[in-house]
Amino acid sequence: MTHFHELFEYHQNTKHSYFSVRSNPNRIDWNNPPNRFKTYSLDYKRIDLNKENQNSKFLYLIAGITAKKTYPNMEYYLRVNPSAGALYPNEIYFQVRNEDGFEDGIYHYEVSSSSVTLLKKLSLNEGIEANLGLDYSYDGFIFFISSLYFRSSWKYKNRAFRYCLLDAGHIIGSIEFSSYLFNKEFEIIYDFNKEEINKIFNFDNKEFFTSIVISGNKNENKKQPLTLDIQTIDGTGYEEENISFFEINNIIEQAYKDSIKIIQKTKQKDKSNYVFNKDLLQDTVFKRRSIREFSNQSISKVQFESIMNILNQPIASDCDEVVDIYYVINRVQGMPLGLYKDGVCIKEGDLKEKAGYLCLEQDLGKSSAVTFFLASKSSNYQKAGIIGHRLYISSNYLNIGCSGIGAYYDDEVCELIGENSMILYALAIGN
Ligand SMILES: Cc1cc2nc3c(=O)[nH]c(=O)nc-3n(C[C@H](O)[C@H](O)[C@H](O)COP(=O)(O)O)c2cc1C
Repeated sequence: MTHFHELFEYHQNTKHSYFSVRSNPNRIDWNNPPNRFKTYSLDYKRIDLNKENQNSKFLYLIAGITAKKTYPNMEYYLRVNPSAGALYPNEIYFQVRNEDGFEDGIYHYEVSSSSVTLLKKLSLNEGIEANLGLDYSYDGFIFFISSLYFRSSWKYKNRAFRYCLLDAGHIIGSIEFSSYLFNKEFEIIYDFNKEEINKIFNFDNKEFFTSIVISGNKNENKKQPLTLDIQTIDGTGYEEENISFFEINNIIEQAYKDSIKIIQKTKQKDKSNYVFNKDLLQDTVFKRRSIREFSNQSISKVQFESIMNILNQPIASDCDEVVDIYYVINRVQGMPLGLYKDGVCIKEGDLKEKAGYLCLEQDLGKSSAVTFFLASKSSNYQKAGIIGHRLYISSNYLNIGCSGIGAYYDDEVCELIGENSMILYALAIGN
């Protein structure tokens, strides 16, 4: 079942290998990073998210700022959601209807000021559901996740679209946990008229939508399509004077066009069924961080099994695909060393060095308790990002560290797992 198969070519063209990273070193202009924040004109009304209102908290726990890092000549902010290289190439928009604390409308999530920008008030008969071709509507939130690939391609070149999609998956994962905390519905839509919605938001070719998440309740009221009379904002302009040095990347733009064509799809109706202590989970979501270094400590089998239980829960969406979870056990008490899939050891032995090497020689891969490789015959990177987010939260919940690993030797991972799959993502957990 290969719904996203058109991305296969892009995937092939953006593999890392021992040879490619040495023969084609990446040259980066470190002095000019693109802006990580998109801001609309101050003429639009803002609603502050630092309020005691439940819906403000719900939104804050999706993408709010949770830490600040200061370096000699720069400072940057870390968020609820992780991001490859902390470049945050995604933006979030949403429609809200009949929710406490917010006028019905279309909003942009303005991360820099911890607020949301009201782009348009909704009249009673209007709804973006109609633009999506639906003859029903939703009370609640409908999120739209976009990518501004230049924020990432500036550094990661052609491989950046993978990171945009994985990061989008992490945002979807954040929405999943925040929806669980605040008793809201959660369902993903990948198949929608993306070009049409891009147009409605007045995007130029620098920004495009990749997914929708519904955190609301369906009702039978049909709405009229809406129009948005908003400015086109360059969300990649450089921080100094907002000058744009945007460089078009044709390989990524083609990959986006290819990703739009969904040939065949299978709906996943089942929902995840979590049993977390909500206070502890909320604290975990707020404090989530990527571990930078492990100290070679082990975790217990019970901890590992409870993490796997979260990872294997269904993800409700309109296009579900199988993502296989392979894992190299390095330090789990009571589990023999080796490569596993679905609880079965498929290759016995000490693979620590190998796992570290495969993650582009990053120590994280070998000093971990477990190193994961997510593989698929289709290329739904966003689903891999969601699974990655579940791994972060379920590990951090147990005080176990986690890090995403976007760089690995693609073909050599396939050799290890003995499958000619697309390797979508790697991650490591441990202490
Ligand atoms: C898709 C993705 C790929 C990543 N790849 C790596 C990696 O290869 N090596 C690494 O040390 N960290 C990696 N990270 C972690 C990021 O550097 C980290 O999320 C970012 O610096 C923000 O910090 P935080 O997660 O603590 O908020 C990755 C994160 C994501 C989401």
